[in-house]
Parts: sequence; structure tokens; C-alpha cells
Amino acid sequence: MRIHRLFIAAAAILAIASCTPVGGNTDAVIERKVEQLLVEMTLEEKLGQMNQLSPWDYDDLAEKVRRGEVGSILNCTDPEQVNRIQRVAVEESRLGIPLIVARDVIHGYKTIFPIPLGQAASFNPEIVEKGARVAAVEASSDGIRWTFAPMIDVSRDARWGRIAESLGEDPYLTSVLGVAMIRGFQGDSLDDSTSVAACAKHFVAYGASEGGRDYNSTYIPERQLRDVYLPPFKAAVDAGCATFMTSFNDNDGVPSTANRFVLRDILRDEWDFDGMVVSDWTSVSEMINHGFCADAKDAAEKAVNAGVDMDMVSEAYIRNLALSVEEGKVPMKVIDDAVRNILRLKFRMGLFDNPYVDMSREDMTYVPAHLETARKAVEQSVILLKNDAGTLPLGDRIRTIAVVGPMADAPYEQMGTWTFDGEREHTVTPLAALREMYGDRVRIIYEPALAYTRDKSQAGIARAVNAARRADAVIAFVGEEAILSGEAHSLANVELQGAQKQLLRAVAATGRPLVTVVMAGRPLVLTDEADVSDALLFAFHPGTMGGPAIADILLGKVNPSGKTPVTFPRMAGQVPVYYGQKSTGRPALSEEMLVDEIPVEAGQTSIGCRSFYLDAGSTPLYPFGYGLSYTTFEYSGLMLSSDTYGMDDDITVTFNLSNSGPCEGTEIVQLYVRDLVGSVTRPVKELKAFRRVTLGSGETQAVSFNLPVRDLAFWGMDMTYGVEPGAFTLWVGPDSATGLSADFTVVKR
Ligand code: NOJ
Repeated sequence: MRIHRLFIAAAAILAIASCTPVGGNTDAVIERKVEQLLVEMTLEEKLGQMNQLSPWDYDDLAEKVRRGEVGSILNCTDPEQVNRIQRVAVEESRLGIPLIVARDVIHGYKTIFPIPLGQAASFNPEIVEKGARVAAVEASSDGIRWTFAPMIDVSRDARWGRIAESLGEDPYLTSVLGVAMIRGFQGDSLDDSTSVAACAKHFVAYGASEGGRDYNSTYIPERQLRDVYLPPFKAAVDAGCATFMTSFNDNDGVPSTANRFVLRDILRDEWDFDGMVVSDWTSVSEMINHGFCADAKDAAEKAVNAGVDMDMVSEAYIRNLALSVEEGKVPMKVIDDAVRNILRLKFRMGLFDNPYVDMSREDMTYVPAHLETARKAVEQSVILLKNDAGTLPLGDRIRTIAVVGPMADAPYEQMGTWTFDGEREHTVTPLAALREMYGDRVRIIYEPALAYTRDKSQAGIARAVNAARRADAVIAFVGEEAILSGEAHSLANVELQGAQKQLLRAVAATGRPLVTVVMAGRPLVLTDEADVSDALLFAFHPGTMGGPAIADILLGKVNPSGKTPVTFPRMAGQVPVYYGQKSTGRPALSEEMLVDEIPVEAGQTSIGCRSFYLDAGSTPLYPFGYGLSYTTFEYSGLMLSSDTYGMDDDITVTFNLSNSGPCEGTEIVQLYVRDLVGSVTRPVKELKAFRRVTLGSGETQAVSFNLPVRDLAFWGMDMTYGVEPGAFTLWVGPDSATGLSADFTVVKR
């Protein structure tokens, strides 16, 4: 009999004796099981648990697993293979410790949801949670019990390809939606067979990679780290996120994979995290390239001593740490604590009791309920950026439509970045959906003009123009292929690639109403596109159900409600551009003289000495939180419950929201605050609350928010966290740039 079964039996008796529910894995029971197993383990077996491999050769893997040299595998999605390897771990290794099987399930497993940045545009934690639940149900049915998501790096740089995987630029929005994803993945209980352990990544500051170049250095001082980059991770810990992943970047000279300050002092000591920390893919050995470690042994020592429990695929731990322990460079307690964290997770996941995939399970991939949830997620994620003269929705009088552009019928591309398991055959494109919805009623002339988004050949543009001339309206589907965003896919030019601009200009010149639909992985610079289009819809890569949801929006069956989760720049040179910037001593004025207006030989100081670009001004093309609807909303009657508050008070904010337009619609109401004077400078605005409110035409609703004064806290001059008394301004409105405002004061009573 395997030794662990004896432990479990003994632990079960203890559990009954201490009145825990039979079979109940309470924390205390789990801790006992962990300790009992730990004392049986050799150092080699401990290091084996700390080793994660991505197998190529399953026979070789089986051997390693049999010898207890592997604690986890990633990227195995064949349930039979998962069971085969798991059987070796459970029945043939000395201690029978099950493996935990991991996979990047970032925005869906088979049913692909909008990329995370798209989901963030919904500002809807419920739909985000449902999406993660769908992903968990589908992935766990193939044996995947651990996903490397959510990615909660606050991301403010459109050039950085990984902005696609993020939940946007705002720490609060990222926190709320990150928590929603964790809930969805992990379900009600980690040991449910459909639960997938979440992984908060990348810890930390990776989103600030210099110049938006992936893997690059960051220079985030502690205050900004704590105010901006850490809050989503703290929220993840509070939500019970099972694991954390370190990031590739070095911050101020210290690679995250060896950053004791964040991994031990903050994560463990301040936040009490008792989950498991995994490195990123070879980020342990990459510390040699960083010039931070001399060799793999040095890297393994620095990583494990800093608090990285599991080494993802670099094998630096398994190859070196036995010697390091013998030499006294790594204390045995450090190894034991890492193994405790790993075993605790496996017990919490119920893997000792249920290690195998149930091969008689029902196939849950692409079931109608999952497709429906994905469709809803797209509906709520699409952002209407421009709609002149009610161009959208397309009316009943349309008889012929020209559909042009390389993204109209690109099933693979619309799935977006890092989707290893989604299948193009299951993806419905806008062209397919429009054909299905219009049937014989409307003639669709399809002329893609470009074969793919980077296509520079203009040979097909004439045909698209010809199609436009014969149509009542043109819908141009442009954007980015999936490969242009995501990991390692940074761009210096964040405008449309290939001949897409030429295509748009050419079809616009026909004078037919032009609806441009952009599907992309980042907030592209769309200044020219907005200019030439009558209506502009933006869909971050929408996934499997992108087509039907977008078609419903175009036809007016669904009213768009998404808002920008990141600022859209006018020009790439504005990046990083985000709403929560500091004021500076010379803030830009609303009317600055731009480059074409400056007189020749103007005096050096004649243009104001203000903080703005002579060519791009100071405002973005679309601010954070922006998005239109087919109806209109009016805000009125803002009232605060008082004009003065004590530190423990709650601020009750009320206002009226009216739907003053022609149809039902959903508005994402947003509440921002500015702390006018601080012991350190404060952002010009900070999002503190938001809500989706649905109103029928002509309807008015009183909306109220409860804002606890403690939510105004930040890291002050002396690096303590708290609210500073003084004057504040509060806004409610449709985006970060407009809204009604009121002032209040916080006092120490
Ligand atoms: C590297 C990426 O940075 C990380 O996000 C991902 O989870 C791992 N590779 C595993 O694929």
C-alpha cells in the first residue's frame, strides 16, 4: 500500500476525533496531512515536487514521475495521457503524490471568450466570472486543474503585446475583474472536480516593461508599486487565489523571480498568502541572462530563497538544490516551506482523493450554454466609438451591403492571442453571421480586398470599391491578426498594418456610409479610421462567438454597452497615456496651440510652457471608460450625503440617470475621485466604483453608490497607508473625462 494512503487513513481518524466532517478537508486536517507526508519525503522527492515540466517525450516523463522527480506538468491536454501519467505518479512513485496538471487557459479553453482586455470592456464582474467558470468546466474535463490566469498586470502601454491579456490600465477595475475570474476558475470549492486553481500573474510590475518591449526592465518605486501595481494582487490573495506566478522583468535591478521583498515581505508576511508561487517559464535560469546570477545553481538558490516554490521548466531546482542544501546555501526550512505550499495546494484541490479524469464524463466543450455565455460576453464588450447621424444600427431599408476587410471572415484571427485549444471550425465570423441573419433579405457583396491584416498588396482594393459603389452601406472589418498581440508581440507602430488604411480611405471615398469594425488585441491608434468612418465599432478579439454578437449589434438587436478599459491614444508617441496621471506643475490647458497653428519664428515661451505634445496635444483619442450607445444618457442631480466626512464614514453618492434616447440601453456609470492635496502628489482621477445600469427609453433611475472613506487611502510620504484629511472632488459620469462633480472634505474627528 502506498504510504500516503496510510497517512490519509490516519488523518481521517484524527479528523473524526476532532469533529471535522467526515472526508472534510478543513485547513487543520490539510495541514496535518501535509506535515505527515513531508516527514516521509527525501530531499530528492521534495525537489521533485518543486519541479514542473512541459513534456515532449511521455516515456521519459513517466520515468521521471516514477522516480518522484516531477510535481506538476503543463501543456498536456489529452485526458488519456493525463491519466496515464497520473497513474504512474499515484501508483508507481514511492509516495504516490499526484501531479497537478496546468495549462494557459487565458480566455476560454475550447469556447473562446473575448481576450481579457475585451472582457474588461464589459465592466461586468458577473460575465467575467461566468466566462472563467465555462473555461474551468471545459478545461477540467480534460484533466487541467490549474490555469495560469488571471493576468492582472496593470497595463498602460498599447505597444506591449501582452496588454491583450490584461484587464486594462486601472488598478480598481483590474482588481474587481481579476477577483471575478478567480471565483469563476476556482468555483465554490477547490476540490470540486470542475475547479481549476487560479494563478495571479505576473508578480509584479511586468505591465510597466520599459518602452512596451516584452520582458523588459521596470523602474517602479515602492509607492507606485503599492498604489498601482500591487492592489490587484492583494485583492487576489483576499479572494483566495490558489497560486501566484513571478514575472519576467527585473524591477529596479532585481528580477521578480528573486525578489524577496515582494515574494516574502509583502506576499507572505504582510498579506499572509499560504498558496503556492511558481516561476514563469524558465524565469529562474533566465536570471543568468539578466546578469543577476552566475549560473543555474546560483539562480536556483536566489529564486528559492526569495520564495519561489516551483520552478517552471528550467530544471534549475531539481539539478542543483540538493548540493545547495548540503553546502548550507539554502536552508532545509526553505525547501520544506516550498513543499508545504505545493502539497497544501494538491490537498486543497482534492487531487489525493480524485487524481484522475473521469473518462465517462459528458463532453462539455462548446455546449450551447457555454456558447451563449461567450456571446453575451462579446455583446457587452464591444465598444461603439463613433456613430455619426445614427449610422448604426443598420436600418431595414438596406438592400445591399458591401462587406470588406481582412477580418470579416478570419475565424482563427478573431480568437485572439494565446488560444491553444480553441478551434477555428467552431468560430463564427461576422461574415457568416451576417449571411445567416440577413438570409435572402439583404444582398451581401463580400470583397475582403486584403488576404490578411498585414497584407500590403493594394490589388484587391478596386474590387472592394466597386462593391461599395453597388451597396447601400459598407462594413469594413479591419484590425490585427491574433499573432500581432500577446506575449513577445510588441509593436512600435500601433496603427493598422498593411494596406488597411488605404482600403478604408478608398471605400470611404465612394461616399457610401462606412461602418468600420476593428478587431484587435490592443488599443490601436485609430485617428484616421475615426476620421473616415461614419461609425466605428471596436471589438477586442472577440473569440468563438464574435460573429453573431457583432452582427446583432450592427443590426440593432443588441445595443452596444462596452467602455474602453484602456485609453486609446491619438498617436503612438503619447504612450504611456492613461487617465490616472499626475497633474504636473504645469498641467495642459484645454486649448493648447498645436504644431500647425504655431507662427513661424514664434518666441520660445509663446506656446504656454505646459505639459503636452505640440503635435498630439494632451488628450487621447478616446479616454478610459468611454463608449457610446444607440440611445443617450443624461446625468443629473448629483448629491452627496454630506460635505464633510470622518475617517470611518461612508459617502453616499446619489444622482439620476435618464435614458433620453430612442431605445433601451445599458450605461456603465463610473465614479471617480481626486484627492486635491496630499503629502505626496495624487492622480488627477481615480476610479472608485462603477455599475451597469439598464434603462428603457424615457426611463429615469436614481443611482446610488456607497463609498467608504477608507477607500480613499494611499501610501503617503512616510510610506504608511491611510486616508489624509483634506479636500476632495468626486465625479460621476459616462467616462473618465466628463461628468458631474461635487466637492467634499475629510476631517479627523
Ligand atoms: C510564459 C508567460 O509569461 C506566462 O504568462 C505563461 O503562463 C507561461 N509562459 C506558461 O505558458
